[in-house]
Parts: sequence; structure tokens; C-alpha cells
Amino acid sequence: MGTTLILNISSVCKSQPPKKETSKQQTSNQLLMRDKLTQMNGALEGLTLNNFDQAQESAKTLGMISRATSWHIADPTPRYLRLSKNFQEQTADLERHAKEQNADAATLDLVRINVTCLQCHQHMREHADQRK
Ligand code: HEC
Repeated sequence: MGTTLILNISSVCKSQPPKKETSKQQTSNQLLMRDKLTQMNGALEGLTLNNFDQAQESAKTLGMISRATSWHIADPTPRYLRLSKNFQEQTADLERHAKEQNADAATLDLVRINVTCLQCHQHMREHADQRK
């Protein structure tokens, strides 16, 4: 699973800024983004069912995705970079806490990650508005 992702990422990263992307590249970018939802669900399911391995695996994948997605946004704002970095730290925390089977800490990490998802998308929308 991880290997496939990395292959996808390396082809996406060579691409032009979003507006110039071909529809094929946009699709793989969207798939990557959509996979964040799947992995969040996996982490939630893992924590809910006390399956720490699953939570750890999802956290790891989220971290990989975020390192990739941060590359293919054109003109990232300082706030975007900060949110992106927070996200990476939060997924690393979740991965560690799931490994330690620390359910309370991992639950908090998951909440923080959720907030960061929403903050970043909110920021993208506001930033897009400013450009109009
Ligand atoms: C640091 C910024 C950032 C964070 C954090 C972030 N995203 Fe995104 N996300 C983006 C960007 C950029 C897009 C591209 C769409 C856009 O321009 O708004 C996107 C798009 C998406 C999409 C839409 C894909 C499509 O079909 O168009 C989904 C779903 C998504 N993100 C889920 C998540 C989830 C779930 C999380 C948290 C686990 C998350 N994102 C965290 C930046 C972020």
C-alpha cells in the first residue's frame, strides 16, 4: 500500500501548478486527498475497536499523504505551511501514541488532526476568495 502511494506521489510532484494540471494528474491528486478521509476513518475505527495496529497504520499513511500534498500546492501561504507542519506532527504523535497503546492521547491526537483538516480547507477557501 505504502509503495503504491509513493509511486503516485513522485509522478504528481513533477506536475505543474494545479491550474495547469491535466485532468489525469488532477484525478490522482484528488484520489490522494480522498484517501485522507479513508485513513481518518481507519484511525477512528482502530481507536474505537482498540485495534492500535490499524490506528498506527492509518496515522502513518496520513503522514505520508500530508508530506506529498504539501508539495503540489502552488504558492503556499505561511499559514498553509504552518498547518501542514502541524498536521505532520499530529499524525506522528498519533502514530506514536497508537504504538504505545495510549488510547487517551491517541484520541486527542485524532481530534487535533480533525481540526487541522477543517482549518486548512477553510484557509484554502478564504485564500481563494481573496484572489478573486
Ligand atoms: C495543510 C492543508 C491541508 C490539510 C491539513 C488537509 N487538507 Fe484536505 N485538501 C487540501 C487541499 C489543498 C485540497 C485540494 C482542494 C482545494 O483546493 O481546496 C484538499 C482537498 C481535500 C478533499 C477533496 C478531494 C476532492 O475530491 O476534491 C478531501 C476529501 C480532503 N482534502 C480531506 C482531508 C482530510 C480528511 C484531512 C485531515 C485528515 C485533510 N484533508 C487535511 C489541503 C489540506
